[in-house]
Formats: sequence, structure tokens, C-alpha cells
Amino acid sequence: MVDSEQPEPESVSPASAGETPGFDRTIVMVGLMGAGKSAVGRRLAARLNMPFVDADTEIETAAGCTIAEIFERHGEAAFRDGERRVIARLLEGPPIVLATGGGAFMDDDTRALVARTGISVWLRADLDTLVRRTAKRNHRPLLRDGDPAETLKNLIAIRHPIYEQSDIVVESDDSPLDKTVDRVCKALDAYLARTSRNGNP
Ligand code: S3P
Repeated sequence: MVDSEQPEPESVSPASAGETPGFDRTIVMVGLMGAGKSAVGRRLAARLNMPFVDADTEIETAAGCTIAEIFERHGEAAFRDGERRVIARLLEGPPIVLATGGGAFMDDDTRALVARTGISVWLRADLDTLVRRTAKRNHRPLLRDGDPAETLKNLIAIRHPIYEQSDIVVESDDSPLDKTVDRVCKALDAYLARTSRNGNP
């Protein structure tokens, strides 16, 4: 079963990974909280022999505190500024598999930069799945107040039409994690075949 909510080891820094990247563009995992961006992204990176980086972890390292603390101390707008800067820096670097926070792709500048430099993969999950997975941990500021199911439902309505602009869409359901990674690999192959035929990057 996909369990994206288990704490996992720290992300690998692109500079220290020392691996030969499997792709010449950064693969950007997109989707709502609980979609499995980090869990799937980490395994995808291992398969493709690419470094994995979690943008949220990078933001916390840069800020020296947790995302919840950034929200509390400085507000969401300050978090979004930091998120945009950190993701831009990562996209300028060598190719990696990059798990972004659920709000990152909603930013126009970030979305444009991803379109120019990366390949975006939306992990689409239904409301029940997102509610179940996110209920396992309590570290997300946006889900701390109010009814998480209601919040996620509203976020689906607002964000899914934007996530839809991703290069690739893959279902993230209750299949074993490796199955979801299989789907992403297959979709990436199809995307590359399609875009190289069309002469796009
Ligand atoms: C957010 C998602 C979180 C984190 C922050 C805001 C969002 O990341 O960036 O709490 O706006 O959806 P995950 O999607 O990895 O939980």
C-alpha cells in the first residue's frame, strides 16, 4: 500500500549524490498534501539513479525551523516567498527528482520555471485517499485548523485545474508504492517519446 506519510530519511543533496542522472531535466512531483510526492519521488529517484530532493526539507534547512514554525512566525506569504526561491535555486541546478509542497505549483513563476526547465508529474489522488493519508501526521499547518476533509475538498476544487497543466498525470491510489512508480516511469517514457517526436525538449 502507498504510505506516503511515514517519515523517511533526509533528502540527498544534489551536490553530494555523485550519481549519473538518468534524465537531463529535473522531474518535479506535483500534487496535494498526501498525494505521495515524497514517497513516490524518492523511489523514482532510486530507480532512475538520480538524486532526490524534498523542497519542504530544503526550505526548513534554509530557514532553520519547521514549516509550521515559518507559518506561525512569519505567515504563509513569507513561506511562499521562501518556497519560490528555494525551488528556483533547485531548478537551476543539476537534474534531480524534486518533491514540491502542495502549494508550490500554484505559483505562476514556479509553474513557468518548471515548464521551461523540468518535467512535471502530477500525482492525482482522490479526496478519501488524501484524507486518510494526511490523518497519519499532524505537521501540516493548513490542515491544523478546521475539518481537514473540508479543507482538502476545497483545495481539490482550487488546485486540481492548475495541477492539470502538468506534463504527466499519474493516479496515486492504494496500489503498492512500486506500482505507482511503475506508472510514473511508463508515463515518463511515453512523454519523452512524444516530445522528442515533436522536436520539443
Ligand atoms: C502545503 C503543503 C505542504 C507544505 C506546506 C503547504 C500546501 O507540503 O509545503 O505545509 O500548500 O499544500 P506537502 O504537500 O508535501 O504536504
